[in-house]
Amino acid sequence: MGKNGNIIASLDIGTTKICAIIGERTGEGVDIIGFGTYPSRGLKKGMVVNIESTMDSIKHVIDDAEEMAGCEISSVYTGISGSHIKSFNCRGVIALKNREVKKEDVKRAIHASKEVTIPLDREILHVLPQEFIVDDQDGIKDPVGLSGSRLEARVHIVTGAVSSAQNIIKCANKTGLNVKDIVLQQLASSESVLNDDEKELGVVLVDLGGGTTDIVIYLGASIRYTAVLPLGGNHITSDIAVGLRTPLEDAEEIKKQHGCAVSSLIDKSETIEVPCIGGGKPRTVFRQLLGEVIEPRAEEILSLVHKEVIKSGYKDLLTSGVVLTGGTSLLEGISELTEQIFNLPVRVGYPRGVNGLSDVVHNPIYSTGVGLILYGMKHHSGNGVGNGNGKDIWKTLKDRMRRWCKEVV
Ligand SMILES: Nc1ncnc2c1ncn2[C@@H]1O[C@H](COP(=O)(O)OP(=O)(O)OP(=O)(O)O)[C@@H](O)[C@H]1O
Ligand SMILES: [Mg+2]
Repeated sequence: MGKNGNIIASLDIGTTKICAIIGERTGEGVDIIGFGTYPSRGLKKGMVVNIESTMDSIKHVIDDAEEMAGCEISSVYTGISGSHIKSFNCRGVIALKNREVKKEDVKRAIHASKEVTIPLDREILHVLPQEFIVDDQDGIKDPVGLSGSRLEARVHIVTGAVSSAQNIIKCANKTGLNVKDIVLQQLASSESVLNDDEKELGVVLVDLGGGTTDIVIYLGASIRYTAVLPLGGNHITSDIAVGLRTPLEDAEEIKKQHGCAVSSLIDKSETIEVPCIGGGKPRTVFRQLLGEVIEPRAEEILSLVHKEVIKSGYKDLLTSGVVLTGGTSLLEGISELTEQIFNLPVRVGYPRGVNGLSDVVHNPIYSTGVGLILYGMKHHSGNGVGNGNGKDIWKTLKDRMRRWCKEVV
């Protein structure tokens, strides 16, 4: 009862699965105390397309997580993805009245950076400060107290379709849950997967999901670029179903059991059993054939990610290389293929930074869910937000969220 103030819950509404995680704040951080996962049927390419089926899955996972945790939850942090997400870098400049930067000035500069025209059907999801410039001095993280006559804020702005966010809120509300915040999925994943050094030295996090591939680039501890591609592991599965003439469910199992993204890594003599469409005796095929079906699609997805990274202009600055996460990062050979395409070091990122039943979420599939808990911890507590101004952004976002909710009801 009284401990509910220390409870944080997340709801990752993915294209292939929905998962709920309940965390309890402790002196040292956060303990995972509840968890539930269930297949997702109401989403396409990261977006809710069927409210009823999405609600069904949400009910399942919330019930399971609540039962495991032995407590009820009333609000969740949730993610957002889909090709409607558009992001860009922006700057805002203001004159300093008293020749010294006050908290108010930081707020005004960030506000000025938001004065870009955004179409009516889009909303700002995040305004992420990158750096401040006081007169000619750049690279400043916290300018409060510095002297100067001109303050410039550089920010990364993430926008999304209002309707997409509303559908997420609707699904949650109809299952009796409040939405505390909607967080860009890769931003959440980066909370649980990336470490501070990687963010400082330059890294691209690629969340290879079922329906989307989400990208975020960090350099100098700030977000520099974000993008969402409407492609993921589901495309590999349907290629297998078509290529090996097998039902989708079997294709999914075959991919997980025997799949490999680089066909030359597969032993030529290895064979696998492939069930036939409409029943009948399974066929025996060379595993390398499976690899030949998977490789071009995996290559296509990773090449599109590579193109985005080149487009961002940060390719040559990514000292920490590439971190893969999401379910498709479990595909054998995916790191090798990524290394070939990017010519950068690659690692697969598992969620960390939580205690308690952390074993149940120790899988790249749960990076977003765990990340949402950590994001909630950081913003909820009011500390760890950094320099005061983060709190104001938080407030604005919350106000915006309330407005959306009102529109939905
Ligand atoms: N061991 C494995 N090998 C290969 N692929 C896997 C494995 N385990 C899961 N996957 C794939 O990962 C994908 C699901 O990943 P994830 O749970 O991260 O996606 P999601 O969050 O539901 O979707 P999205 O984030 O795209 O909306 C599926 O396509 C699944 O086939
Ligand atoms: Mg996902």
